[in-house]
Amino acid sequence: MQQAYRASLLWFADPAQGPASARYEEDGLLVVGPNAQGQQVVQAIGSWRALSSQYGQVPVEHLPGRIIAPGFVDMHVHFPQTHVIGSPASGLLPWLENYTFPEEQRFADAHYAAESATFFVDELLRNGVTTALAFATSHSTSVDALFAQAQARQMRLITGLCLMDRHAPAALLNQPGVGTSAAEQSLVESEALIQRWHGQGRLGYAITPRFAPTSTDAQLRGAGALAARYPDVWIQSHVAENKDEIAWARTLFPQSTSYLATYADFGLLRERAVYAHCIHFDDADRALMRESGAVAAISPTSNLFLGSGFFDYAGADRVGFGYGLASDVGGGTSFSPFHTMLAAYYVGREGQTKTGLSLTPQQLWWQHTAGAAQALGLGGVVGNLLPGCEADFVVLNPRATPLLARKTALAGSLEELLFSLIVLGDDRVVERTVVGQAV
Ligand code: GUN
Ligand code: ZN
Repeated sequence: MQQAYRASLLWFADPAQGPASARYEEDGLLVVGPNAQGQQVVQAIGSWRALSSQYGQVPVEHLPGRIIAPGFVDMHVHFPQTHVIGSPASGLLPWLENYTFPEEQRFADAHYAAESATFFVDELLRNGVTTALAFATSHSTSVDALFAQAQARQMRLITGLCLMDRHAPAALLNQPGVGTSAAEQSLVESEALIQRWHGQGRLGYAITPRFAPTSTDAQLRGAGALAARYPDVWIQSHVAENKDEIAWARTLFPQSTSYLATYADFGLLRERAVYAHCIHFDDADRALMRESGAVAAISPTSNLFLGSGFFDYAGADRVGFGYGLASDVGGGTSFSPFHTMLAAYYVGREGQTKTGLSLTPQQLWWQHTAGAAQALGLGGVVGNLLPGCEADFVVLNPRATPLLARKTALAGSLEELLFSLIVLGDDRVVERTVVGQAV
């Protein structure tokens, strides 16, 4: 069914121009309706004055004082780490050992996984996240649980079986099968999950080696071979987050020229490969990202919380590889894209000592919507409200708190309005989240 919404609208009018094409229509009209496949998509967007007569037959919901914006895209989040948020540690490796690995073991239990998946998807949607690339655990049950929940909400979600066959507690490692090693069995299960879920409605599969130190050569080689056989499946992993992690990876894979190059050597760098963090890179690593088409999921609340370091925006732009924003819950401290954008602003400041400026609010918003979608290979599908995009959007209340009401009333430009929302906003701003339902 067609439906129109009259509200203020925010979108990116020309994705090729990136954040500079951010467009704001104070009194706008958004028209959504089914495409030929029955997917609810955007049919028109623009000023109410220009579009209202053309769409006069379509029922209109009037949302005065509200802003409709694209649903947020979280490029890297761990579904089994909801309970791990806020666990203090001196750095990544003790945090994994003391909090994360013990919690993830609980996801062998199908009931625990299903209940957690329900809460996790609720929390994403409540915060305005409509597309996520998520880690599950090393248990197939956890992957099935998350896909089933996302399917029930008709949400766009990508996940996969966490591949880890060494250097973690036995209960969290992939288990051998009858006559097969743990590495072989984990790849057989991954392929079965691809066939069960990839391309079902809005769901996608990601081949998911946790990070090089928890996989044997055989598992990484098999993951690369699987990725070559399924080129439209995603790959997700972690790289160059923490100095101790890097030193460990270098001793385990000394034949590779860098930690990142280890993934290239096993066929795991390509388009649709998404690497979380990418902090401690040199220009050879950056060039490898650019040439392979792999992209970075920048996770600033996690990097600040775990003391991992600061993503080098200037370096990434100088060499030219793709990136977008991510919560990285539970290393990350919040599901809220507003908190993530604010943390990215702090991180962006770190690298900009020459100008003293950080990222603009339009750049931050782009990196968590259309830019993140583009990095995932989903440009024109989600993360924007141009005609043809899936109708995933949020309804924002810029007066959600007394302070926001005072502050946003003073905004004299789009930049000031968006910056007020980024600095002061959180889940209270997200009044409604709509995912483009099939009809
Ligand atoms: N590296 C390997 N596993 C993880 C994880 O769960 N979180 C983060 N932040 N880094 C990792
Ligand atoms: Zn992570």
